[in-house]
Amino acid sequence: MGTKLGDAEHLPVVLGVESSCDETGFALVQGNKLLANAVASSMEEHIIFGGVVPEVASRAHLQSLVATLEECLAEAKMNLKQIDAIAVTAGPGLAGALMVGVAAAKAFALALDVPIFGVNHLIGHIAVDALEHGPLPQPTMALLVSGGHSNLLLVQDIARDITSLGASIDDAAGEAYDKVARVLGLPYPGGPHVDALATAGNSAAIAFPRGLMAGKDMQKHRYDFSFSGLKTAVWRHVTQAQQRGENLNLSDVAASFQEAVVDVLMKKTIWACQENNVKNLLLGGGVSANSRLRAVAQERCAAAGITLRIPPAKLCTDNGAMAAALGSQLLQAQAKPSELNFAADSSLPIEVIQV
Ligand code: KG4
Ligand code: ZN
Repeated sequence: MGTKLGDAEHLPVVLGVESSCDETGFALVQGNKLLANAVASSMEEHIIFGGVVPEVASRAHLQSLVATLEECLAEAKMNLKQIDAIAVTAGPGLAGALMVGVAAAKAFALALDVPIFGVNHLIGHIAVDALEHGPLPQPTMALLVSGGHSNLLLVQDIARDITSLGASIDDAAGEAYDKVARVLGLPYPGGPHVDALATAGNSAAIAFPRGLMAGKDMQKHRYDFSFSGLKTAVWRHVTQAQQRGENLNLSDVAASFQEAVVDVLMKKTIWACQENNVKNLLLGGGVSANSRLRAVAQERCAAAGITLRIPPAKLCTDNGAMAAALGSQLLQAQAKPSELNFAADSSLPIEVIQV
């Protein structure tokens, strides 16, 4: 397997496969260069349910798999024989959805006789930045904020050594955005809609609570996050105003909610950098597409002398480039490929880079 990987003049071409949620993604990466990135989304089918329906997502992956791969190959003007290795999201994510991508990726690896890497979706959100900004400085602090996760990770070496310093103890940041969007009457997924609505609002209009930022809670959970109290406070604010028949300024509610999320995320992240003497910060995951988070991160990192990296918005949401980038970085670090009998793991721990 993988006879071409040793050729000095030939950087391996990695095919990335992503199917952990509602996006079917294929991408081709060579070294740290993105050659092609094709994504099909089944989001349209989930909107009426107000959330991703696992069975619908699995079926949609099956249906769009071949066409999305063909689109990816056409974009790169390449054929399957030019692929040197496969990297596939092995977890975490929806079990049935993951299985579709993993089964397809194993079939390609067998048929093409190339090595396969089963990789962690969350670490992929970090690895993808190398496609835009080059290899990650060591060490780097990573704030990973997606629909299912909010984590502070100390990345010593993306191929070998990642430590989780903190995580959300209840709702993830993206989940809070999606739930608040529903309270505000906005469609699913709510993050981009709340972001847009907030631009016209006053972020100081309502003093929403900042979770785990004071007293014993903060001592015990210095690098952890909690957004469920904030979500309830927004719900209460909106419902009480409706009961009183008041005319609510929804932009102010969105902006004040967003400020509370962003303020807590960035305060704790800057503490984590300073207290661990880390001078580089990376934002990753779907919520890092948020305009206010990007702006506040820039301001506060500049003030604290921290170098900030954020992947371009189109690489922040789920795609195959994440898996391909991580696979490519594992190859560059001479990591051993995964055994072909690995299983998709819906609750793969965040510190497991590769299965
Ligand atoms: O990383 P991702 O694409 O999928 C998961 O792995 O979860 O993240 C999706 C999440 C959703 O909760 C979505 O509402 C949120 O990212 N999101 C945003 C924005 N764009 C996407 N949240 C806030 N502001 C945005 N601009
Ligand atoms: Zn994701």
